[in-house]
Amino acid sequence: GLRKKEVNVLCLGLDNSGKTTIINQLKPVNTQAQDVVPTIGFNIEKFKTSSLSFTVFDMSGQSRYRNLWEHYYKQSHAIIFVVDSGDKLRMVVAKEELDTLLNHQDIRSRRMPVLFFANKIDLRDAMSSVKVSQLLCLESIKDKPWHICASDAVKGEGLQEGVEWLQDHIK
Ligand code: GTP
Ligand code: MG
Repeated sequence: GLRKKEVNVLCLGLDNSGKTTIINQLKPVNTQAQDVVPTIGFNIEKFKTSSLSFTVFDMSGQSRYRNLWEHYYKQSHAIIFVVDSGDKLRMVVAKEELDTLLNHQDIRSRRMPVLFFANKIDLRDAMSSVKVSQLLCLESIKDKPWHICASDAVKGEGLQEGVEWLQDHIK
């Protein structure tokens, strides 16, 4: 059959938001890790959808590693940005990191799709994806297609919807 198109995706967001858990769930079952641990630096992971072959740079969200993110902007075709919907205190930090990302010279001028996961919606005091998108001011993103999905990465809920949107919006 036809070779799938290869795309690079950067997975960003604060530490503990659930990035590695999400990417792990998207990998083929036989390659999934049993335990997810905090990422040191970054990991490179691969998974396929019906039409695309994804290479994901799963970055650490710890503050000491966030300066690594920008080195991978140029080579990326899309961004997955993960937020912990239960972490009200750090939503402002997540917004600061998002704003810095969107204003970066290697990102600003490009029409690359940005997929947001409002993750950990299973938590009892989790904010809705509508609330998360308001706090992050997503409506002000005019130069890129974006989409937000509520997810529970531990159960794997909401992830397929997001990846299908990504597949449809990567050129
Ligand atoms: P860094 O690698 O440090 O940047 O963190 P990360 O964003 O990769 O987070 P990780 O996937 O390591 O998950 C952090 C913790 O949150 C783990 O204990 C996960 O099991 C948990 N977690 C991830 N997604 C969910 C979710 O949807 N719901 C709940 N309740 N816990 C989750
Ligand atoms: Mg991680």
